[in-house]
Amino acid sequence: MSKEIELKKTSHISEDLNLEPIIKKDFAWTRKKLLSTKDLLKEEVELILETAKVLSEIPTRPVKKVPTLRGKVVINLFYENSTRTRSSFELAGKYLSADVTNFSISTSSVKKGETLQDTAQTLIQMGADAVVIRHQDSGIPFQLSEHLPPHIALINAGDGTNEHPSQALLDLYTMKESTGNDEPLDSFLKNKKITIVGDVLHSRVARSNIWLLQKFGMDISVCGPPTLVPEEFSKFGIKVHWNLNDAIKDSDFIMVLRLQIERQEKGLIPSLAEYNKLFGLNHERIKLAKKDVKVLHPGPMNRGVEISSELADDPNYSLINKQVSNGVAVRMALLYLLIFASGK
Ligand code: CP
Repeated sequence: MSKEIELKKTSHISEDLNLEPIIKKDFAWTRKKLLSTKDLLKEEVELILETAKVLSEIPTRPVKKVPTLRGKVVINLFYENSTRTRSSFELAGKYLSADVTNFSISTSSVKKGETLQDTAQTLIQMGADAVVIRHQDSGIPFQLSEHLPPHIALINAGDGTNEHPSQALLDLYTMKESTGNDEPLDSFLKNKKITIVGDVLHSRVARSNIWLLQKFGMDISVCGPPTLVPEEFSKFGIKVHWNLNDAIKDSDFIMVLRLQIERQEKGLIPSLAEYNKLFGLNHERIKLAKKDVKVLHPGPMNRGVEISSELADDPNYSLINKQVSNGVAVRMALLYLLIFASGK
C-alpha cells in the first residue's frame, strides 16, 4: 500500500499553496472524524499543525480565498452559543471556497422535537461533506457520528464538559508559534510546563488540552479551588494545586479558563471577589512564573475575575488574540484534511 497521503490524488490543492512537502510525508491521513484529542496520533497532530502553518497566510492576502474546497459543503450545527468557534469554522470554510451553511437551532425543527437521527438524515440528503457540531450535552457528537455515513467528515466543536479538540489544537499551534520553535512536538514540549487555572472540572477545553499535551510529555499542572479542581485529576498523571502562587512557579505557559459564573450560584465558589483574590491572574502574580511565560485564554473572558484586563491586553504576555487568528488556520487545516481523507 502506498504510504503517500491520499490527499495527493486530489486536484483541489491550489498551486500557490506549498502543501506538497506535507502531503508527500511518509504517513497516510485517513481520519474522517475529529471527536476527541484522546485518539489522535502524534503524526496526525504534527500534520494538522504543519498544514495550518501553510494555510495561515490565506487570511493575510488581499483576496482571502483559494479554491481548495470548491464544491464542498460544510454545515455548522451549533446547539449551544458560540462566538469564536462557529465564526472561525465558517470563515475557514469560506477562505477555502466551501459552501458553508449555519443551521440556526433556535429557528430549526429541532425546536419542534426533531431527533438527532432525523437531523443526520437531513444533513446527508443536503449533500454535506463536513458537519461541525457543538452541543450542550457531552457525547452528542459521538452519537451523531453513528448516524452519519463514513464519507461525511465530522468535527466536535465542543460537547458539554467533555471535549473541544479543535480548541486544544489551536492552543498547541499558538504555543509553538509563540516560541518560534521549529522542532517536532516531542522535543518542543519536553521540559515545558503548562498550568491550567480555573474550573477544570467542567472544562472541555482543559480535558482536550490535557489529553493532547500529555502525548508529547508536557509537564501539566491544574489549579483552582478544590470544588473545581478535585484531587482525582492527579490520577491522570498531572499535578493538582489549590494555591496559584505555587502552581505557576516555573510555568512556560499559563492557560486561564473562563469562570462559569453559574458555578457561584451552585456554591462551588464563595464569591467572584474571593475567586479573583485567590485565583485571578495579574501582572503581580505572573512574576512567579518563568520570565518569558505566555498566557492563553480560550474565551470568552471575564475580565477582572479570572484575569486582569491589563494582563489580557499585554502583548508581552498574552497570546489571546493570536489564539483567535490561529483558530481559523487550524480549522482550515482540519476541514481540508478531514474532507479529502480517504476514510480507510
Ligand atoms: N473558545 C470557545 O469555544 O469560544 P466560543 O464559545 O465563543 O466558541
